[in-house]
Amino acid sequence: MTYENILVERKENLAVITLNRPQALNALNRALMAELDAAIEALAADGDIGAAILTGAGERAFAAGADITEFNSMPSASEAARFSLLGQAVLDKIERLPKPVIAAINGFALGGGCELAMACDVRLAADTVLLGQPEINLGIIPGYGGTQRLTRLVGKGMAKLLCLSGDQITAEEALRIGLVDKVVPAADLLAEAETLATKLASKAPVAVAAIKQAINVGADGTLADGLAFEAAQFGLVFDTEDRVEGVNAFLEKRRPTWQGK
Ligand code: COA
Repeated sequence: MTYENILVERKENLAVITLNRPQALNALNRALMAELDAAIEALAADGDIGAAILTGAGERAFAAGADITEFNSMPSASEAARFSLLGQAVLDKIERLPKPVIAAINGFALGGGCELAMACDVRLAADTVLLGQPEINLGIIPGYGGTQRLTRLVGKGMAKLLCLSGDQITAEEALRIGLVDKVVPAADLLAEAETLATKLASKAPVAVAAIKQAINVGADGTLADGLAFEAAQFGLVFDTEDRVEGVNAFLEKRRPTWQGK
């Protein structure tokens, strides 16, 4: 598939997806979201890809939100709700992808841009970026999971403060409250993301997928359900050839070679 609003690049066993509408600060229009959806599907099906990086084209933005120019063409509440559900489904797909996805936040991550970053597994931010949920300033609310994922990441009070004020916060503040996981000099962002993605892609794939899924399940439900899920996944992972290889490699003092099964 050829894309017009994103770039998809392969670097060995990594995929780098770049949101590519820099003239609109990478605003997430419908066409971009459809392409992102297709790219994530393709990643899921590609056994050679071990991890992905999501970033924005240009120096100014990761993504400055949903494309506001499309808002006036949503005439009814039900159509707007459908827009929200469609976007949520793309972000859910990223969150559920059985491979790590790193958000390399290179500039503004506002509204849908912040929500997209939150659906990724790890958030690296350039020290120059600003993040926030400014929808309130348009008289609307976050619709791509912002009220939910932000609360899970930073807690109820801070999520309310950000969504109700619409304020933009710095990378350092985002790090302090747990909205991003690491802040790096802007010039080093992509290299750092690649180093991390390479490391995560070098791990046993079945275990990587199980860890991601177990943490997601636990974060979204009760401790008891999470623990039950963890035990079931522990059993499944224990039954893999990679577990035999990993344990034997340790005992034989050599590096393991993973088969992904
Ligand atoms: N949707 C559509 N276009 C957007 C956009 C968005 N979310 N965010 C920025 N753009 C466009 C601008 O309209 C402008 O286009 P133009 O050059 O054709 O006029 C271009 O991107 C550059 O943005 P501009 O506003 O001129 O840059 P700035 O440096 O003055 O301000 C922001 C940067 C991010 C503070 C400002 O663009 C902004 O507030 N964007 C909207 C953020 C938002 O509310 N997101 C949530 C949407 S639900």
